[in-house]
Amino acid sequence: MPPEKQAAYWSYIRVKELLSLQGGLDDKESELTNDEVLFITVHQVFELWFKLVLREMIGLRDLFKGPVNEQELAGAVHGCQRITTILRRCVDHFEVMETLSTREYLAFRDKLTGASGFQSAQMRQLEILLGLEDDERISLGAGESYMQALREADGSASDALKRVQTQLDDQPSIKDVINDWLYRTPIDGSGPDDEGDEAAVSRFLATYAEAYGKEVDIACGISLARTAVEFDSSLVKQRYESDKVALDDWLASGDGPDGAKRRRIRAAILFIISYRELPLLAWPRELIDSIIEMEQHFLVFRQRHARMVERIIGRRTGTGGSAGVDYLDQTAREYRVFKDLWTVRTFQVRADATPELQKDEFYNFRNQ
Ligand code: HEM
Repeated sequence: MPPEKQAAYWSYIRVKELLSLQGGLDDKESELTNDEVLFITVHQVFELWFKLVLREMIGLRDLFKGPVNEQELAGAVHGCQRITTILRRCVDHFEVMETLSTREYLAFRDKLTGASGFQSAQMRQLEILLGLEDDERISLGAGESYMQALREADGSASDALKRVQTQLDDQPSIKDVINDWLYRTPIDGSGPDDEGDEAAVSRFLATYAEAYGKEVDIACGISLARTAVEFDSSLVKQRYESDKVALDDWLASGDGPDGAKRRRIRAAILFIISYRELPLLAWPRELIDSIIEMEQHFLVFRQRHARMVERIIGRRTGTGGSAGVDYLDQTAREYRVFKDLWTVRTFQVRADATPELQKDEFYNFRNQ
């Protein structure tokens, strides 16, 4: 059936409406300097990218709400890669903002007091959807919560606050569904509902810890033999010993209400990345790598934003009342959602040091 309306670029892209949105607080674009219109436009471009990232993330999260088959993992990887590509472009856009000199920005900055990037509802939605928890958040200023910052000046709920609240109610997060998926991953052929699964997981972890211990001993030996400077060898040994303890501590996460689940999730990550060349682990390992890449780009976004801010306003207090660059650097350091996916890299061993599996044929394609 032919479409009812003839399409035209302007009616489809809504160019007229789009170009009428850069008028600032008084909606009078003709009275604004080029610097201010640039400032507004760059923020709007970011918000549009955030919108696309949000859509991709919801798709990614929904894909994992139930059991996922192998082919669907390719779609999840594609989604992560698209998000990463968008974030990479976002980071470039800070360069456009940096064409604004300190004085050019100061010329209109005062009228923004009270407004701040931390009122970007979409940015908060992205963090919540990823799985950043409320108790992991850094205080914005004088103990103010991020939700408080989304209120109107008279304390009433803004549209931004309502959006963020809706996002908070829309569980699970991507971290939750990925953890559930990891939890279900067969480890050396054994699934969580199989009889003897706990023993199979423990066996895998024990052989892995032994292999890792040997690798640490080898690295320690090389370090002691090759260091040219005088040093206290007992200190070096201590450091390597603490590497071994770190793996034990990480795996001995079986205490507490979610302990057993957490331990199996960590074992699954270790398993997937250690046996990454097995055919049935090809997509799982790609997914893990693409999630890490995606989170890395979030971190780069935060760091790049902080450097741009430092270049333009130095270390002064932010218009939102935070410690400015110090606050932003703290978020770049501390906001990590997929912590286990990062931690496991510390414990990886060389391919030929990986312990043998009992059931590696389980991970071949079924018709092989
Ligand atoms: C001249 C340009 C900019 C300056 C000087 C600046 C400065 C700041 C400062 C100082 C903060 C800390 C909160 C505060 O006290 O206000 C902040 C937060 C933030 N800014 Fe910017 N910013 C600029 C451009 C941008 C752009 C283009 C974006 C893109 C969307 C952006 C997004 C954000 C976000 C999302 C936060 C909240 C960070 C968090 O709470 O984790 N900013 N900005």
